[in-house]
Amino acid sequence: MNVDRTIRTLDEFTIQSLRQFPQATGELSSLLRDIGLAAKRVNVEVNKAGLVDILGDHGTMNVQGEEVKKLDIFANNQFVGVLQRGISCAGIASEELDDFVAFDDDISKNSKYVCLFDPLDGSGNIDVNVSIGTIFAIYRRVSDRGTLATREDFLQKGRNQVAAGYMVYGSSTMMVYATRRGVNGFTLDPSIGEFCLSHPNIKCPERGKFYSVNHGNFFQYPEDVRKYINTCQNKTKETGGPYTQRYIGSMVADVHRNLIKGGIFMYPGTTDKPKGKLRLLYESNPFAFIVEVAGGKATDGNIPILDIIPTELHQRTPLFIGSKGMMQDLEECMADAQKEMV
Ligand code: AHG
Ligand code: MN
Ligand code: MN
Repeated sequence: MNVDRTIRTLDEFTIQSLRQFPQATGELSSLLRDIGLAAKRVNVEVNKAGLVDILGDHGTMNVQGEEVKKLDIFANNQFVGVLQRGISCAGIASEELDDFVAFDDDISKNSKYVCLFDPLDGSGNIDVNVSIGTIFAIYRRVSDRGTLATREDFLQKGRNQVAAGYMVYGSSTMMVYATRRGVNGFTLDPSIGEFCLSHPNIKCPERGKFYSVNHGNFFQYPEDVRKYINTCQNKTKETGGPYTQRYIGSMVADVHRNLIKGGIFMYPGTTDKPKGKLRLLYESNPFAFIVEVAGGKATDGNIPILDIIPTELHQRTPLFIGSKGMMQDLEECMADAQKEMV
């Protein structure tokens, strides 16, 4: 019998995808379900943020010397707790934890995957009711199952990701995740408390109207980047410019918009911070994976983000990411500027 179902929940979708791979064990589906559950709990707190005592600073600094918000800690604890109690995750690394954590119980030690995440992205926007998010990356561990997860499991290049995704807690709450087979978006239906497929098979438009960069840092950017930013304001037929500048300060929201509508997001190095601000393992890599699967591109200005071999859990990287055509313009413009500079 063929039942015509127009709405598919995240669980239904991952289980249906699994059916196409008889050899699959279902561990990835279970991991995605766990992540979805943690996201729903975070969403509840984000939505009542002004009503309960969860706004504001936690009073501590993270390992990167940044102020930690109460919601950063809440979100971190939700994701760690759910993944630790699940059956598919051997260990985690998080923006909010100095070092990775290998889960030391028999089920976790026998699990196939490790997960890295930014529990709350854009946390500077929490107190002012602007969209924030969560970002995650999933890798198959390289260490033997049955043992504790190791540093090497976490320091894999982005190209090895099995899946990556993000949540946006915005005008609606969404979860978007990518596997090599495609990118799909789910919107949380609050009436049933489920993520439902709303954006099947997302493709990043070849070009778009948006460029997203922190203009306040303009004079601190390298000259080739400044040249490109100037071209974004030019009226040309080839590029479709001038573009509209949009920068929310929550990477999740900025890259999500550009993924759907077409655009380019940049967080270049600055004179103060030559490697920029964004972290390779749980910010740039997952987005690079998602955007590449959707047909876009992501580089650090020289090489694809996904080819960088990580050396540290919290290492930073400049990031240029978005629609393929706009990324090609950026590369050409930067190459020309470099030739002029020698
Ligand atoms: P986080 O809240 O996880 O520390 O990340 C914030 C990041 C990113 O989301 C955003 O694009 C960027 O910081 C904004 O930084 P600037 O204020 O320097 O532009
Ligand atoms: Mn972040
Ligand atoms: Mn964060």
